[in-house]
Amino acid sequence: MSLANKNILLGVTGGIAAYKSAELVRELVEAGARVRVAMTRKAREFVTPLTFQALSGHPVATDEADFSQAGHGMDHIALARWADAVLIAPASANTLAKLTHGRADDLLSTVCLATRAPIALAPAMNQAMWSHHATQSNCETLEKRGVMLLGPASGKQACGEIGEGRMFEAHQLLLSLSGLFSTGELEGLNVLVTAGPTREPIDPVRYLSNRSSGRMGYALAEAARDAGAAVELVSGPVALQAGEDIRCRHVDTAQEMLEAVREAIARQHIFIGCAAVADYRPASRQPEKIKKLQDALSLPLMRNPDIISEITQLEDRPFVVGFAAETRAHEKHALQKLASKQLDMIACNDVTDPRCGFDSEENALEVYWPGGHRSLAQDTKPKIARALVSVIAKRYASTHKRGNVTVLKKVKDRSQNS
Ligand code: PMT
Repeated sequence: MSLANKNILLGVTGGIAAYKSAELVRELVEAGARVRVAMTRKAREFVTPLTFQALSGHPVATDEADFSQAGHGMDHIALARWADAVLIAPASANTLAKLTHGRADDLLSTVCLATRAPIALAPAMNQAMWSHHATQSNCETLEKRGVMLLGPASGKQACGEIGEGRMFEAHQLLLSLSGLFSTGELEGLNVLVTAGPTREPIDPVRYLSNRSSGRMGYALAEAARDAGAAVELVSGPVALQAGEDIRCRHVDTAQEMLEAVREAIARQHIFIGCAAVADYRPASRQPEKIKKLQDALSLPLMRNPDIISEITQLEDRPFVVGFAAETRAHEKHALQKLASKQLDMIACNDVTDPRCGFDSEENALEVYWPGGHRSLAQDTKPKIARALVSVIAKRYASTHKRGNVTVLKKVKDRSQNS
């Protein structure tokens, strides 16, 4: 299930099925998702916010919550940006009507207007209300806009009637929701990602490194896995854990990263070099801790191997995506790197912006390939990663024919190495 580490905003609206949403939160949390709950005023007549706060571990967003107070969570814009997906369960007939008309008269409907995340609705209502022409027409409009409708199921209703209008069970909703993240765009392909910084030792206690947290690379590994790829990750020293089903190898230095990449590369269809590899290392590693004897100290440095350039020189090279961390003349430098490193694609980030790039939660990318360009506007790293993986998948598909000799050979290599 690909809900691990996903930010799920659960909207709970007024209906007797609201009691089932408590179980839904528990199952989402068990599946590894980070869950925040937003409740409408009517929903709170059925279940208290305290139930959802206890199960999600976060304060519940309501129209009355005072977001200026510490510990009260996020306002509507912060929630809209935070969510990887919005699930409204139960979604009342009134909610369907409000979303159809783009109303924003409470916190939940405002979040739905403000978010760029996919929205899924689990309708729950009396069968006559569900089959009413107005509700059906609203559903049609919402589906045309890309909103996902999960259910309803048919059966005995709380009001005693029998028919369509029961909210889907928690496990059905989880399954459908995880489908939102499993695009299948990289199904059957092997992807290698590098992430994090390298550490170049000076002496037994000191090293040269940089501020890479590994977040961007780890998010890319998860996005590629969710897109159906078999993912390997070569990671520099970071405080993150690789996602489920991602084979991770930890390294320290650029030389070790190169060796790990060399070992894995023959079985890859796509290589994404997101690591911030140190360009230079101390010419020699002092065996003893350097003593503070002089006022000034020079440290001779030597060039590290360029990992990504070595990979693009291989005869049987994979599709290679590089990153460019730039502080000025971004486009010019990114295009120079695309050409000089013979990359298939490069994702350029502005590392002067403290909200993006190194050690930040968000990023924004300008993606270039020979003859093409795409901007990925500032968003959380997991969302940027999913968007970039989709760009890579489309470009890969347009330059490689599935089922050709190379792809088949690599599939064979992968099975031998698993
Ligand atoms: O880890 P985070 O905190 O989430 O931050 C993400 C990031 C800013 C580190 C990431 O988005 C990023 O930009 N990574 C590449 C950083 C970098 O080293 O950029 P560069 O312009 O110096 O290198 C260009 C490309 O060559 C990169 O793909 C790099 O991996 C590769 N390279 C560089 C040097 C080297 N010796 N070997 C390489 O393979």
